[in-house]
Amino acid sequence: MKKAHSIALLGTVFALIAACTPAITDGGYGPFPNEEMARLSGQDLGHLQRGYMVYQKQCQQCHPQPLLPHEVSEGDWHIVVPGMAWNAGIDHEDEEAVLQYLLAARQMPSDNAGGGSQQ
Ligand code: HEC
Repeated sequence: MKKAHSIALLGTVFALIAACTPAITDGGYGPFPNEEMARLSGQDLGHLQRGYMVYQKQCQQCHPQPLLPHEVSEGDWHIVVPGMAWNAGIDHEDEEAVLQYLLAARQMPSDNAGGGSQQ
């Protein structure tokens, strides 16, 4: 019963995302988790994508333009996320997923592309 309900809910969430975000891969905040991010961070790709979704959906309820993963230090994310998870009312697994996503996304060079200092 409970499971069927959450699957239906998940379907609704994905339908909403599809409706509001035509290009989810670059329409959101922060880099979309890919194989490279999973490899660099040693995290499961599905786990990172779950964290990405939490970041887009939950954090933006209160932060329409949330700080990007690389704008906060690793240590500060560890401190901020538990408090924000409480703010958002998300469960422990979502909290873990969003924290791992933020830490993994920080390691991605893509945000700085075009800076032109690397030669
Ligand atoms: C219910 C509203 C709410 C939700 C949901 C929420 N936040 Fe916040 N957030 C706040 C408020 C209010 C502050 C400032 C006061 C404080 O630090 O508690 C804040 C502060 C922050 C800060 C400190 C820097 C700043 O911008 O002021 C960061 C970083 C942050 N939030 C990230 C997140 C992330 C990541 C999530 C999702 C996991 C999230 N927040 C979800 C309300 C929220």
